[in-house]
Amino acid sequence: MSFATRILRRSFCTGVYRLAPVNHVTVIGGGSMGNGIAQVTAQAGCQVTMVDQTDEILQKSVNTINKSLQRVVKKKFADDPSKGEEFIQGIMGNISVTTDVTSAVSNTDLVMEAIIENMDIKKKLLVDIDKVAKEHTIFASNTSSLSITEMASVTQRQDRFGGLHFFNPVAVMKLVEVVRTPQTSDETFDTLVEYCKMIGKTTVNCKDTPGFIVNRLLVPYIMEAIRLVERGDASPQDTDIAMKLGAGYPMGPIELADYIGLDINKFVMDGWHEKYPDNPLFNPSPLLDKLVSEGKLGRKTGEGFYKYSK
Ligand code: 3HC
Repeated sequence: MSFATRILRRSFCTGVYRLAPVNHVTVIGGGSMGNGIAQVTAQAGCQVTMVDQTDEILQKSVNTINKSLQRVVKKKFADDPSKGEEFIQGIMGNISVTTDVTSAVSNTDLVMEAIIENMDIKKKLLVDIDKVAKEHTIFASNTSSLSITEMASVTQRQDRFGGLHFFNPVAVMKLVEVVRTPQTSDETFDTLVEYCKMIGKTTVNCKDTPGFIVNRLLVPYIMEAIRLVERGDASPQDTDIAMKLGAGYPMGPIELADYIGLDINKFVMDGWHEKYPDNPLFNPSPLLDKLVSEGKLGRKTGEGFYKYSK
């Protein structure tokens, strides 16, 4: 695309002429990460289409985004609730939902994949949407631990494919890891960084390595805490208090594990253990396995290491 053409691609997000070509984003997956990404993108004034398998899931997503915006508004418009309501309506007006993935990707600038962490399911989706998405459309995955290069390999747009790894809660956490594969073009990478800036996030750059930066450090740390509890060296409560008051972390590792989801922690660990069986940092934990098998997945199911009331 020529410089002039890019200039003429006016950004509707800001109302000013700029180089960033991302005006419309399609978020696939209405889980907590997909919801958060849709929210912050819509908050920046961009049009967003959210896709998931059923209307019920999408309705839940819309409700979650609404609730999250209520928290923003409570402080921002404390003295003027009607302005707050207007603010929320304006943002919600930027979000549309559909179960029709083909139509949702057929005219968009950026596809954010945030579905289940299963490589085969992701690949199948990517093959399908690659056929219908426009040539200029960039694909990005929010995977926490799978290979971006492997995902991109099933598409015809490996140069327009990268990773954008957000953190939970997306509305609050300031970071996005921008992951480039050996095939990601400079233009794609720059566009992804520009999009993150537009939605108010700080970026770090990372190669396509397991866990990128944050999860490569955070997940083994959480697992060490779980093993410590498993050995009976300290209670979950004391482990959390220790790291909050002794190391200044906003959450202790056990409550963070519950917050992220124990199934997700297990999934990441199992994947790395399978790939690197000799690394003791990636050993599975029988306690974690037991909780997951009992359906105690953390906050989202009402119980993990701790119990949560609705
Ligand atoms: N939407 C909007 N705003 C939210 C929110 C949400 N979902 N959750 C919290 N907030 C806002 C609150 O309204 C509040 O705003 P204010 O300061 O303007 O009043 C602010 O965030 C702080 O929230 P709270 O007062 O309710 O609670 P805390 O001060 O305890 O903060 C927390 C909550 C931000 C979650 C904090 O405990 C924290 O930072 N925890 C660590 C989270 C973390 O490590 N996340 C990364 C996980 S790893 C990951 O996601 C990667 C994945 O691949 C596994």
